[in-house]
Amino acid sequence: MTSASADHVVLAYSGGLDTTVTVHRLVHEQGRDVVAVLVDVGQGEDLPALARRALAVGATDAVVVDARERFAAEFLTPAVRANARYEGRYPLVSALSRPLIAQLLVEEARRRGAGAVAHGCTGKGNDQVRFEVSIGALAPGLEVLAPVRDSAMSRPEAIGYADKHGIDLGWISEATPWSVDQNLWGRTIEAGVLEDPWLAPPEEAFEWTVSPAAASGSREVVVGFEAGVPTTVDGEQAGLAGVVAALNRLGGQAGFGRVDMVENRRVGIKSREVYEVPGALAVLAAHRDLEDLTLDRDVLHEKARLEIRYAELVYDGLWFSPLKAALDGFVAETQAAVTGEVRLELSPGRCQPTGRRADRPLY
Ligand code: ARG
Repeated sequence: MTSASADHVVLAYSGGLDTTVTVHRLVHEQGRDVVAVLVDVGQGEDLPALARRALAVGATDAVVVDARERFAAEFLTPAVRANARYEGRYPLVSALSRPLIAQLLVEEARRRGAGAVAHGCTGKGNDQVRFEVSIGALAPGLEVLAPVRDSAMSRPEAIGYADKHGIDLGWISEATPWSVDQNLWGRTIEAGVLEDPWLAPPEEAFEWTVSPAAASGSREVVVGFEAGVPTTVDGEQAGLAGVVAALNRLGGQAGFGRVDMVENRRVGIKSREVYEVPGALAVLAAHRDLEDLTLDRDVLHEKARLEIRYAELVYDGLWFSPLKAALDGFVAETQAAVTGEVRLELSPGRCQPTGRRADRPLY
């Protein structure tokens, strides 16, 4: 890394307003050479089209990395096994993707001999912390640039900057009233009108779930696990990502999977957050239920205590930390027997385990 130059920057590019303005500023104001990295964690966007945006505003290169398998295998799998939910509710959707994106930035920077990486996070959220802590753990010598945070550019200012420099904003839905981040594990919605914690989220904020009031009937679905990892839906092999996708669809139709909470951010702010996480919550409910049938009482109780800490570490950006690694070791040790099936009943706004069976029950 010693010969690497900070004139060469690898940027985590999402295709949104902030990261697009960031490319332009790094190239045209600071004279740096920017490689944009677009990471596919299952957000369901046309990433090659977004990559062309980065090139249009001055990036030297734009690479799309399909990281869906890696996200499921290396990030969602341990999170499921640890029943990871921050403050008992939020299944860590964004918190799980950031360390992976950080890892890919570091890999790309090494491959290209770049001396710096960059992100487009603001100074108010947790994501800046997750990127910087993860990058610091993986590549202590690498410089991290955070132009959006450091310039404290507001959204109207960013739009003004884009207008002034002829950046086409056609693809940014005008004045999106909140901020969305999504991946295989769920969808997060925050900011804008949602900042008033008393105001009920407008129905238009939701895309994956119908309102429980609009759902009717009930249906059953059987989720199968192998060593704590979800593998089947109604007996069909689907893999973790396939199981989550199926339960996102079924749960969403049932009006299940909305979370509306006041969350304590790492940066010391209380923030109203809304999530659509039907698949994640259904998988976690089933996994937890199967553990009741298969884990020893003392292990189960101790694991429940450690899970709280585990979720806090992940939330705080400490994915690549010694304590998180040690807790992964503990959790992995407990999961060998967590093989079997759980039957879930989905009814309007609810997901209830109604049956469980295991290869090696302790029952
Ligand atoms: N509050 C959640 C978290 O801290 C969601 C963050 C969503 N990030 C975003 N850039 N919209 O993990």
